[in-house]
Amino acid sequence: MALTARPLHPLFAAEISGVDFSRGVDPETFEEIRVAVHRYGVCVFRGTGLTDESHIAFSRLFGELEQAPRFSIARRRFRYPELFDAGNLDPDGNILSDERRRMYNKGNQLWHTDSSFNQHRSAYSLLLAHEVPPVGGDTHFADMRVAYEALPEDRKAQIEDLVAEHWLWHSRMLAGYPEPTEEEKREKPPARHRLVQLHRESGRRTLYLASHASHIVGWPVEEGRRLIRELIEFATQPQFCLAVQWHGPGDLIIWDNRCTMHRATPFEDVRYRRDMRRTTVYEAVDH
Ligand code: OGA
Ligand code: MN
Repeated sequence: MALTARPLHPLFAAEISGVDFSRGVDPETFEEIRVAVHRYGVCVFRGTGLTDESHIAFSRLFGELEQAPRFSIARRRFRYPELFDAGNLDPDGNILSDERRRMYNKGNQLWHTDSSFNQHRSAYSLLLAHEVPPVGGDTHFADMRVAYEALPEDRKAQIEDLVAEHWLWHSRMLAGYPEPTEEEKREKPPARHRLVQLHRESGRRTLYLASHASHIVGWPVEEGRRLIRELIEFATQPQFCLAVQWHGPGDLIIWDNRCTMHRATPFEDVRYRRDMRRTTVYEAVDH
């Protein structure tokens, strides 16, 4: 089946049509999707009709799936540990009123790339809408290859060999979440990643950056933090960003976490329901 890719931004991202998800995606079509994800960084599919089961099965074509962390945020809503909850509902399906949980979700409104706080990075995320609010709750994206290529040469030279430390609790605390518990700290210790990386599948260099990045290894904390902040601001200038609106259930966005950043945006989360479920695919270990 030949896909159609309609670019959504002059520099990255496309809406893909021509995939029939109802019959399972054949290997040829899957290969076309993979190529598109590597090329565009962000691929949007409308009205896929995917269910929890077929979402997970399709995601497995990309590689091994991460499991959502067990720590104590709340009882889980889903039968499948492969599903991450990006929505605002409690396990009974009611709108969340738990303040701690709402603060935790707010962390998603900072620019980030999924799971950079894990040493074993995630390559792809597949976020599927089950219920969307009538207004707000768009997801924003930026391509870090585009950002890297636009950096002044002296900046590129300055950051070439730097390593950043990423910690889940850093971004959560930035968003107002309280100091993590000992259990939470144990579950998610910090990880270290090079700031500049080669995105092999496209042969382009990229920034690996996120609000989870707390400092630069070997630099005074404040100085590293300032650099990270400046790079995130540079990479997310309006001309580099794309807002994707969710039209309804079944909409799916696949992004490559190794070369993009994204963020959730506000909506009336105590008034409207937003049920979003994500699978996350580990980067293959031979990379
Ligand atoms: C995610 C995420 C943003 C959103 O699921 O990883 O950041 O708009 N989601 O829900
Ligand atoms: Mn995310």
